[in-house]
Amino acid sequence: MKRIAVITTGGDAPGMNAAIRAVVRSGISAGVEVFGVEEGYTGLIKNQFVEMKSTSVSGIINRGGTILRTVRAKAFHEKNNRQIAYAFLKARRIDGIVVIGGDGSREGMYTITKESLIPSAFIPASIDNDVYGTDYTVGFDTAVNTGLDAIDRIRDTAASHERIFVVEVMGREHGFLALEIGLTGGAEAILIPEFKDDVNLLKLCKFLRAGINRGKNSSIVVMAEGAGSAAKMAPEMEKIIGMEVRYSVLGYIQRGGTPTAFTRKLGLTYGYEAVKTLLKLKKGQSKMVGMNGSKLSIAEVSKLIGKERKVNKEMYNMNKVFAT
Ligand code: F6P
Repeated sequence: MKRIAVITTGGDAPGMNAAIRAVVRSGISAGVEVFGVEEGYTGLIKNQFVEMKSTSVSGIINRGGTILRTVRAKAFHEKNNRQIAYAFLKARRIDGIVVIGGDGSREGMYTITKESLIPSAFIPASIDNDVYGTDYTVGFDTAVNTGLDAIDRIRDTAASHERIFVVEVMGREHGFLALEIGLTGGAEAILIPEFKDDVNLLKLCKFLRAGINRGKNSSIVVMAEGAGSAAKMAPEMEKIIGMEVRYSVLGYIQRGGTPTAFTRKLGLTYGYEAVKTLLKLKKGQSKMVGMNGSKLSIAEVSKLIGKERKVNKEMYNMNKVFAT
């Protein structure tokens, strides 16, 4: 391989820049030219390639977001647009790509390799941690810590005013983020789409009321956006429980921000390993780097596509024990 391209697609996540830095510098050190594609898969269709030098990635290790920018590229779902992208990749003599993104980005990458035969390596990066085949995505730890910081602040008000707070966090249709924030933030209840049966207003209010009766003066409920709406739930809870219930939707503050040490190290390690892996791939091959516990894993993307990562039920049950 002589020329590779790096792309960030889908939602941005902290640590994407650390991963870009690792890809660029590992590529250069291995003797290949590295190009950055701006604006995700849209940039492939629009021929937005920039040559990356070592200095192009200076001073970005600590920055959230992605210097290459990103787009949720609907246009890429159309085959004729993808053919345009492949023509640009061919014209630029790109013989390998590294894609940094979430689940949907991996599917896009797999399609590129299947249709164009250009080998590809995938770096999972998403605040949602919902990519099958890895225990950790780049950005998740940072988003957890951002959420945790918010919970700690909200708890001050909850305790001072003797209130119940429902805090809604992101995570799309999964509860990984909510579960991690809820557990480490000491939430009295965690509502996630994976355990929909527990998202029951009467049951929840009865449980919280029992806690108050035991002497708790406030409670925090962490709710995944995929489990419902905190804005709708809080007033209904107030009527049932007979004490003040407020809500807070954390929203996009969880997406940005300075990456934690864990997130940076993950981005750097994945970037380094992705280049090492990519340079050994043959036409039509597609692999993903990830973590299996504390061990690095390299897997065939074809074996991961279409599979769903499951939340840790034990962790969910553990929080119930702590909340009693
Ligand atoms: O995938 C990351 C994420 O922030 C999800 O948690 C959230 O549901 C979604 O992206 C929001 O998407 P958008 O950036 O397109 O509004």
